[in-house]
Amino acid sequence: MRDIFLRACRGEEVDYTPVWIMRQAGRYLPEYRAVRSNIDFLTLCKNPKLAAEVTMQPVDILGVDAAILFSDILIPIEAMGMRLEFSDKEGPILGEPIRSKSAVEKLIVPDVEEDLPFIFDTIKILRKELEHKVPLIGFSGAPFTLATYMIEGGTSKNFLNTKKMMFQLGTVFHYLMEKLTDMIISYLSAQIKAGAQAVQIFDTWAGILTPQDYKQFAFPYIRKAISELKKEGVPIIYFVNNCAGILQEIKKSGADVIGIDWRIDLSDAIKKLGKKIVVQGNLDPCALFLTKEKIEDRVKDILWKGDAAKGHIFNLGHGVLPQTPVENVIALIEAVHTYGSRK
Ligand code: CP3
Repeated sequence: MRDIFLRACRGEEVDYTPVWIMRQAGRYLPEYRAVRSNIDFLTLCKNPKLAAEVTMQPVDILGVDAAILFSDILIPIEAMGMRLEFSDKEGPILGEPIRSKSAVEKLIVPDVEEDLPFIFDTIKILRKELEHKVPLIGFSGAPFTLATYMIEGGTSKNFLNTKKMMFQLGTVFHYLMEKLTDMIISYLSAQIKAGAQAVQIFDTWAGILTPQDYKQFAFPYIRKAISELKKEGVPIIYFVNNCAGILQEIKKSGADVIGIDWRIDLSDAIKKLGKKIVVQGNLDPCALFLTKEKIEDRVKDILWKGDAAKGHIFNLGHGVLPQTPVENVIALIEAVHTYGSRK
């Protein structure tokens, strides 16, 4: 197995900077759209054979240095007892938003192996298929990001319901976060036991909090989850979208690797995080709509900046957009491999 990604996560010396892409299995790939034309998204996530097939697509088509399990951060929320739907127009919709103590009480902390068997079956298939290829990343949403979906009932503009619960029903909010943290610990531990060789925790919405509120309402839970998961012995990546204002806190999360979005210069992020942390990121996903020459320039700039950290894994600053031309994604991976040589 080409283990350069895992070596970089651990801050070990590597021959070149490894690269993978958030949302690398998805709609920008014609091969993904072909599979999706016959099956809806949730059914695809729950079909281990097909989920493994689409996980492998970017490994074979792009030549990335890691695979990421094909699933969604909202899948375990369904197992907690909420209705989940994906609408092509509105994105995810969760039934009966959580707004009260009794609603939180009703949520189940699932027996993940029993309730989400398809996740672990997919991981087992993938480990066999990836044996001579690249490592497999498992993932979960962070407690705060999952809480926003449950409280808002989907995506939101200003997260008013979430903040109202934080500010007006603080004990209920903390109770929800505790349940989510327990779920995430057991879910990621089980993914690791099934064969995930690293895990990424996605905190897509933590950046909407003031630094003080992040510290009080989100950070204690992510830190607890990470400190429990450390016992499993695989690298933990913590990605926070819109991280600039809270990097000082994120630094204390205990994660081995910090994922950085594109809104902050990578040099500034590294300065704030210090030299003991490995960073991942942070090309603007829209930069993939530039010419190939300009993509290369941005790649070189980020690689150069990443050199200052303990280690650097190249990635986008958020997920690849469905409209992205595949040839530009391939050019990006080639550019990272060409200019990221450390020999
Ligand atoms: O990275 C990968 O290739 C693995 C698969 C993966 C998906 N979602 C597949 C997906 C991963 C890691 C995720 C994480 C995820 N899901 C996040 C965190 C990362 C981020 O983007 O911030 C979030 C917030 C979600 C929730 C979610 N899932 C939304 C808001 C949407 C709708 C918007 C969209 O991108 O379509 C989804 C749907 C989704 N998840 C798709 C895929 C491939 C598109 C579904 C389809 O095929 O129609």
